[in-house]
Order: sequence, then structure tokens, then C-alpha cells
Amino acid sequence: MTLRRVNVVILILLAVAFLIIVQRNLLKLSDFLHKENSDAEQILPFEAELSPQARLKTGAKGEEISVLITAAEDRLGGVIAAINSVHHNSKANVAFTIVTPNDTVDHLKAWMSNTKLKEVKYKIVIFQPELLNGKIPKDTSMLDAAKPLTFARFYLPVYIPDAEKAIYLDDDVVVQGDIQELYETSLKPGHAAAFSDDCDSASAKGIVRGAGNQINYMGFLDFKKEAIKKLGMRANTCSFNPGVIIANLTEWKNQNITQQLEHWMELNSQVDLYSSTLAESLTTPPLLIVFYKRHSSIDPRWHLRHLGTTGAGNRYSAQYVRAAKLLHWNGHYKPWMGTSSFTEVWDQWFIPDPTGKFHPVRRHAD
Ligand SMILES: *[C@@H]1O[C@H](CO)[C@@H](O)[C@H](O)[C@H]1NC(C)=O
Ligand SMILES: *[C@@H]1O[C@H](CO)[C@@H](O)[C@H](O)[C@H]1NC(C)=O
Ligand SMILES: *[C@@H]1O[C@H](CO)[C@@H](O)[C@H](O)[C@H]1NC(C)=O
Repeated sequence: MTLRRVNVVILILLAVAFLIIVQRNLLKLSDFLHKENSDAEQILPFEAELSPQARLKTGAKGEEISVLITAAEDRLGGVIAAINSVHHNSKANVAFTIVTPNDTVDHLKAWMSNTKLKEVKYKIVIFQPELLNGKIPKDTSMLDAAKPLTFARFYLPVYIPDAEKAIYLDDDVVVQGDIQELYETSLKPGHAAAFSDDCDSASAKGIVRGAGNQINYMGFLDFKKEAIKKLGMRANTCSFNPGVIIANLTEWKNQNITQQLEHWMELNSQVDLYSSTLAESLTTPPLLIVFYKRHSSIDPRWHLRHLGTTGAGNRYSAQYVRAAKLLHWNGHYKPWMGTSSFTEVWDQWFIPDPTGKFHPVRRHAD
């Protein structure tokens, strides 16, 4: 009898000792993780801020879908419409990372937090232009093309460090489908990204006039330059549009994609490697080089392009535009300016600026 009691006491003591050891180890582990995190914070080239509502939000379930988008002061209405369209058309657990210059943070925050976009899960990240020192040409005539924010997409794993897969969206898009579907785009093994090829039918239909030779590599790269020749790429290879990117960030990091892109940016700022016929894009050529024959494809319905290439004379039918999952006003005519086509579609997603600073230009302003 007493012997049994002693056994029970010993058992209990052993159990308690075991629990203490387990708990100690867990504490050590959490200490360690905490330390890792604070170390990481020190090397990040930006300041991060989480939307207060996002922390409280518990509604959305499922795997988090990370979306990177940039916010430039003079086109802020674009980001707002894009975010609104994604949010409205999906029940998925979408988390936006919005990269913006320091000067724009307050305006963006006011717009997000004083409208229905306050339900959106988002994080504002401050863009540090120093990131690009020595990597883009200083020539002032290129200033527009060299808009530093357009290079944010090269740094996907820096801005979204914790996800394996992420989406990048340009600010001149509207998403009409459920973004979950875009997120599920499968990437082939060894591919770090998927893009929309410019030779697919959806795109060819859009190239009516104005888009010209942007369809192949020759339109973007100067094949007479030695550095380009050496790569042995075919000049008539179909180009792709990097306004929508699905990325495997594990592969991106493994293949040092960011460093490779930086290498081509640096080289180009020394020797002009990019086709001079195409002043618009400094971001596309390095991507074309690095992802030459090494990228997966996005379903053409998920990237209807060139809505901004031909102005109001665009020949897409209204039904065609309505059926597309994602609309992209790439080109000179933006939907917040007066002259683009299908502004009425974009207007459905625009939310007026509570600060009153941003107004879309409309011919029949009321
Ligand atoms: C942003 O601007 C504020 C106010 O001008 C300044 O205090 C802060 O250091 C800036 N932050 C960054 C990351 O540049
Ligand atoms: C991303 O790439 C890694 C490494 O190749 C692979 O193991 C993983 O399955 C890929 N993830 C996705 C979501 O495609
Ligand atoms: C990526 O960079 C690291 C560190 O600079 C290097 O060790 C590695 O070999 C590189 N990987 C590739 C695929 O270039």
C-alpha cells in the first residue's frame, strides 16, 4: 500500500520535472525566434507599419495571399481602385503590402482609414530611394521612366519576407475576378515567376495601334550591344508584361533574382542596353533578360492589357472587357485621366479621396 503511494508520488514528480524541461525549452525557442525577428528588422531597408484594423481582423480565413502594390502620390487614386476591386471580389485572406514614399504615407493612410478600405488587411512600407543608388541612370530626361517606385517589384522577397508565394500588381489595374484564382496559378519547378506573354491572343487583339514592336525582345533591348549579344537570346522572342507577377519567393531567393536584376540595372546605367525606341519602361528589360525562357504563364483572362495604349479608341468590345478577370491600363492613357478607354469600368472601383486632394479628370465633371 505505502509502496504504491511512493510509486505514485515518484511518477508525479517525474511528470512535473518533464513539464518544467519542456517549458524551459519552449521559452528558449521563443527567445530565439524573437531575437531572429529583431535582427531581421535592423537590416530591412524600410520602416514598416501595420494597419491597426488588420491586427484585429479575424473574418478572413485560409492561407494568407500576399499582394505587393506601390502607391505614388500623383496616381494614388489608381492604387485605391485596385485595392478596392481585389477586396470586393474576394473572400480570401488577402494581405496588401503597399510600398510608398515617406511623403505619401499620411495621404494614403487617411484614404485607407477613412473609407470602407479600413476593413482591408494592409501594411504600409516606406520606400527608400537610396536602394537604387547607382542602379538607375541619373539623366533627367529619363526621370519619368526612372520612377524609382516601379523598381519595387524587383525586391519582392525583401518587402514580403515571410511568404513563399506572392502576387505583384501594378497600380493601374482593376481586378474583376477572385484573386484566389490568380494566386493558384501554378509555377513550373525551377521557375521563380509567372508573367503574361505578349503574344497570347488576348494581348495580340489589344495591339491595334500604338503598341507597335513592344511584342518581342527587340522592342526592349539593344541587340547590337555586346552584353546583350553575349546572352544568345533570340531577338524575336515574345516579350511579357511585368504588370502582374506571381512569384515563388523561395525560388526567387535561391536564384538570387534580385541581385541578378540589380546587375542588369547597374550595367544599363553605364552602357545603354535598352532599346531607345522604348523610353517608357526601364523595369521590363532586366526582367526580360533574367527570366528569358525561365518563367511560367498567367492565364490570359487574368491580364487583359493595353487598355491605356490607344486612348478612347480602344477596340475591345464591352463584353470582352466585362468577361476579363483583370484589366490593365498600361500605356499613356490612365483611367484617372480624361482620355482613356473604359473609364466607366474603373470608376466603379474608385473611392473619392476624403482629403479632397485627388480628383480623376473627367470631361463631364459634375
Ligand atoms: C519620414 O519622414 C519623417 C518626417 O519628415 C521623418 O521623421 C522620418 O525619419 C522619415 N522616415 C524615413 C524612413 O525616411
Ligand atoms: C517554390 O519553389 C520551391 C523550391 O523549388 C518548391 O519546393 C515549392 O514547392 C514551390 N512553391 C510553390 C508554391 O510553387
Ligand atoms: C546566390 O548568392 C549567394 C551569395 O552571394 C551565392 O553563394 C550563390 O551561389 C548564388 N546562387 C546563384 C544560383 O547564383
